[in-house]
Amino acid sequence: MAFKVTVVSTSPIDGQKPGTSGLRKKVKVFKQPNYLENFVQATFNALTPEKVKGATLVVSGDGRYYSKDAVQIIIKMAAANGVRRVWVGKNTLMSTPAVSAVIRERSGADGSKATGAFILTASHNPGGPTEDFGIKYNMENGGPAPESITDKIYENTKTIKEYPIAEDLPNVDISAVGVTSFEGPEGKFDVEVFDSADEYVKLMKSIFDFESIRKLLSSPKFTFCYDALHGVAGAYAHRIFVEELGAQESALLNCVPKEDFGGGHPDPNLTYAKELVARMGLGKSDTGGEPPEFGAAADGDADRNMILGKRFFVTPSDSVAIIAANAIEAIPYFCSGLKGVARSMPTSAALDVVAKSLNLKFFEVPTGWKFFGNLMDAGMCSVCGEESFGTGSDHIREKDGIWAVLAWMSILAHKNKDSIDGDTKLVTVEDIVRQHWATYGRHYYTRYDYENVDAGKAKELMEHLVKLQSSIPEVNKIVKGIRSDVANVSSADEFEYKDPVDGSISKHQGIRYLFEDGSRLVFRLSGTGSEGATIRLYIEQYEKDASKIGRESQEALSPLVEIALKLSKMDEFTGRSAPTVIT
Ligand code: G6P
Ligand code: ZN
Repeated sequence: MAFKVTVVSTSPIDGQKPGTSGLRKKVKVFKQPNYLENFVQATFNALTPEKVKGATLVVSGDGRYYSKDAVQIIIKMAAANGVRRVWVGKNTLMSTPAVSAVIRERSGADGSKATGAFILTASHNPGGPTEDFGIKYNMENGGPAPESITDKIYENTKTIKEYPIAEDLPNVDISAVGVTSFEGPEGKFDVEVFDSADEYVKLMKSIFDFESIRKLLSSPKFTFCYDALHGVAGAYAHRIFVEELGAQESALLNCVPKEDFGGGHPDPNLTYAKELVARMGLGKSDTGGEPPEFGAAADGDADRNMILGKRFFVTPSDSVAIIAANAIEAIPYFCSGLKGVARSMPTSAALDVVAKSLNLKFFEVPTGWKFFGNLMDAGMCSVCGEESFGTGSDHIREKDGIWAVLAWMSILAHKNKDSIDGDTKLVTVEDIVRQHWATYGRHYYTRYDYENVDAGKAKELMEHLVKLQSSIPEVNKIVKGIRSDVANVSSADEFEYKDPVDGSISKHQGIRYLFEDGSRLVFRLSGTGSEGATIRLYIEQYEKDASKIGRESQEALSPLVEIALKLSKMDEFTGRSAPTVIT
């Protein structure tokens, strides 16, 4: 079928600066005339026509509301920009980690390889007509575009005058697997719809020992529950956990992907994954019955994960440290060693202690998965993670929610390899974590989020904290005035990162107050919200003394919390007496 190219005049639209992870706005913003089109064309222009012409492009996402319209628009624009092929997940569904895997691993029937992807997701933000939509571009390595590209995209959105589009191209049926071919002014253009679970399952099988996990799952001692929060993880969960690993169907909660995530907030944390939290015996009300031994949840696009044991929460910062500490023994992919490990700055230093003890290369990067990608491409990092419920490895260039669950299952299978059949008690998630603390010490950790705060006030709060940093003695006077039982602040700064691979410098990546005993207070403005500002406060305290590692974390941290709130004048600036979410 032949198509023509029309050039549409447009003008710049304000506010199209990509955040930590692409452009995220309310659906109604995206539905404005030319809004999506301007951003897509600004991206094509940033990549340069040479790279776009003849390219194979992946376009898919978490299937949230507006994805189906957006896919058709991007297909028409890709055709008009001379893209050779577009690969689309069936019903637009492809998790963010699966997109990364498809870019890196998949070959088309003619041997073609993808050169990049538009991922349609607002990750953990709610979806639906009145909620969020989002788009981000991933590069040839399967990772998010670096700042050099996102800056160019933003610049282009400020000067854009026109974009080409194949308006007469019929909508492609994205519900059926297959190839549809078209003929444009520059030659052939194909749209291939496929099920990305095949590629993803193959990759997971090359990393983990599915046989040993299957054995764990078949044991009556081991019970499991997975909550996809109606995000795209559901499209993979049945295949992997039920079909490949033999879990019961009833182990899957909310695993049917929905455009509006069933009206929920698809963020896997103790506040939003309510059903799972209740099932795991961590809710306010008891659901009755014995909770499963292991529980996990994913966010909308399936790159985040939450790991739970029976009545037990594993902090994401501990999770990555524990995976790193056990990877070599428990996960075949790492059997020859780890190239290095990395965490984002606000993530607790639990990983640092493991790195030191195992003599591993270690990196502390700003928030945002893209910073890990460079290290991985350079062969400097194998395992990395963030406090924001992201964990992953160099098998792809995105964090990977299901990978994290399989990593934990592998560790559980390994620790239980002798006990799974016999009468011995199961080594539980909680046992593994407590053992880890006993070996490496415990990093008490909590995060306070103040969502949708007035942007001006949030900025003022940050400026106030930066100003305070000019005099540490002054800070200590204030701190001691609030609580005399905490250590002194030894230094304070705004985190700045020099990428060891390309030398690029990222400034203003969060305000840190570092205490003499290793405790830390970190303040950051979120880069993923779509309305107002979200202030994040991260609080951490290291405890080496084995007799003091069993405390309630909120109680152990309460002196530091008090200091953080008073030092920052949080209530005063935000007008809030409590955070929106505590994780
Ligand atoms: C996304 C990125 C993560 C990052 C997180 C931070 O999920 O992929 O790498 O940690 O955003 O979000 P924030 O809202 O704190 O900027
Ligand atoms: Zn996500």
